[in-house]
Formats: sequence, structure tokens, C-alpha cells
Amino acid sequence: MKKLVLSGKRIITGQGSLDVLSEMNCRRACIVTGGQSMIRTHVIERAEKLLEKSGAETMLISGIHKNPDFDEVAAGVRKLQTFHPDMVIAIGGGSAMDAAKGMVLFYEFPELTRENVLEKNRAGAIPASRSVGLVCVPSTSGTGSEVTRGTVLTDRKQKLKVPIMTDCLRPDIAILDPELPMTMPAHIAAETGMDALTHAMESFINHNMDDIDAGLAREAIRGLMKWLPESVHDGTLKAREKVHNYQAMAGISFANVGLGMVHGIAHSFGACFDMAHGLTNAIILPVAMAYNRQDAFAATQLDELSDDCRVEDIVEAVDVLREKLGIPASFREAGITEKDYKNNRKLLLEHAMLGATMVNPVKMTKESMEKMLDRVYYGADDSRIACG
Ligand SMILES: [Fe+2]
Repeated sequence: MKKLVLSGKRIITGQGSLDVLSEMNCRRACIVTGGQSMIRTHVIERAEKLLEKSGAETMLISGIHKNPDFDEVAAGVRKLQTFHPDMVIAIGGGSAMDAAKGMVLFYEFPELTRENVLEKNRAGAIPASRSVGLVCVPSTSGTGSEVTRGTVLTDRKQKLKVPIMTDCLRPDIAILDPELPMTMPAHIAAETGMDALTHAMESFINHNMDDIDAGLAREAIRGLMKWLPESVHDGTLKAREKVHNYQAMAGISFANVGLGMVHGIAHSFGACFDMAHGLTNAIILPVAMAYNRQDAFAATQLDELSDDCRVEDIVEAVDVLREKLGIPASFREAGITEKDYKNNRKLLLEHAMLGATMVNPVKMTKESMEKMLDRVYYGADDSRIACG
């Protein structure tokens, strides 16, 4: 038996769906957003007006950084404690949504701390229901956070990304308005789009896959392979809308099924070098997919994807897509010096073995992971890399 969840209460899609904020039944709404883009493009102003029209008072928490950390979340919780919102609305990219989810978690359950949150979650001590409403309005097309039960917060001291997966983090409402991802510059559209493709592919080859999620992941992969180039290079509304919807489908799939070592390694590099999540995934994805072919189930699933996408080899096609989208082939090419890599290799290895790596189709040992890290750092074709 497997219990699947497809989203919170509802998903609103289509152009103009941000307008649904005027129908929110709340009195005090806190909007959480990232750097400047949502303010500069007047999306926040529009959201505030819509909420005020519905009779709600609003507060804004802005300036959330890439890879939000526990301190940033704690600062947000202190603001919530003075405002007492009955709804938190994240408008922005994955970082804004992760931070908002973290704030809701620690605001709603004040007994939780950085130190005990994972243990309490493992013990089932975090209730699924909460009193504060949670709405996510993504402006980038990748994380699927608006439909998932997870957040990823960074512990800067330990250079560690900490995924927290618990039912109370699944947003009640996901708003997929294609006008928001129209604000993305091309490189963000490329990196976040490759994050979505990674979600769909890692869940599709995960041994925990089921028929319902396979349908979502398969269609997401087919659609992302088709529409990502137009979304990145031409930025048309149609392509951005397609990618926006496919990334949510990929999100639903991985939330039910799980991911794999692309994410384990990506979190390790991302936390260590403060790199964007989508970029790290995009570099690792083709290398890890080729490696996972040694698992019989993964190999069959990848062959099916090749047929679905009408390409000779889906792994090669993903690598071609990566290049077409202007994403480097290795972390060395992405600008991490060999000295920095070598100095951090031990920590990278330790952290890359955690999280989603534990549910990778091919079981990783420290020895095989060491080789994998060299492969993604130097590039799969580098002669220094031992194969196998
Ligand atoms: Fe991801």
C-alpha cells in the first residue's frame, strides 16, 4: 500500500491566477520574498493590493538570500511573532519558499529548534495540521516547493544543507501564474528548469516509483525536454507556462517517490560553495544518470524515456540540452578552483553520502562516491577520472 498526495488543497494555474489572492480568507497576511525582482516587477505591490482588497492587513519580509539558513529563518520567526499572521504567502523562487516554510514551521511549533527538529520529525512529533495558512507562488520554475512537503535550510557553520520533510510544510494553495516566471533571466530559467528535470528523472528511476507518479514524471520529462530551450532562449509566455506546469508535476512526483544521488551531491556542493541548487543539479544530472544505468530498473526506465522523448539515448540528450542551455559540464568549469575542491573534498564526500543519496538506485559506497565526486568536479571525460 502506498498513500499518495497530489498537492495541498488546490493548485491554481493559468495566466492571471495571482488574482486569486483577493479571495483569500485571511486577516493578517505575511508575504515572504527574495531579493529584488518581485518588488522591481511590482508583483509584491499587486499581491499586497489584492490582499488588502480582501480586507487583510499585510506585512512584507523581503531580502531572503540564496540557500536560506537557520538564522535567517529565526529572524523571520521573530517578525511573525510580533505580527501574528494567519497566513504566510511565499512569492519568489525556491529560497523564498524554503525560508517561508521554515518560518511557518518554527513559528507554529515554538518547541522546535535547529538542534531538535530532525529528531522530533523522525519521532513523528510534528503535527500535520497547523493554524497558519501557507500559500506558495513560485516565480521560478524548478523546485516544485509549492506542492511538496519539504524545505531545505542551510547550516552555514557545518556547511550543510538540511532537508526537512514533514506534512505540515505542504502548502495549502499553489498558485502557478505564468506571468511570474516571465521575470526570470535566461540563466535562472535554465538552472531552475534543469532542477525540475532532475526531480522528474530521479523519481522516475527511483525503486519507489508507482504508476500514478510515473505518469506525472514521464510527462514532465517529455515536456521539459521539449520546452526548456524555447523557455530559456526565447522566453515566450507559452514556453514559460509549460515549464512552470511541468516543474510542479515533477514536484508532485518526487514528493511521493523520492530522489537520488544527484540531489545528495548537489546539496553537498551547494552548501560548501554557496552555489545555486539548479546549477549544481544540472552539472551532476547527466553524469549520475549514466552511472545509474548499472541498475537494471534504472536502465529500463531510462530506455523507456529515450522512446518517449524520441531520442536515441535520453542521458546523452540531457547532456546535449545542458550544453544548449549554457550550463558548464563540470564544477571546475563552473569556476571552483582545484585547490578549493581538494581542500573541501573530505567534507563534500561526507555530506554527499547523506539525504537522497541513500535512496539512489545504485547503492553508493564511500569509494564509489569519491570517484563520482571527481567525475563531476573534473568532468566525466577527464583522463584523471577512473571509470566504473
Ligand atoms: Fe531540487
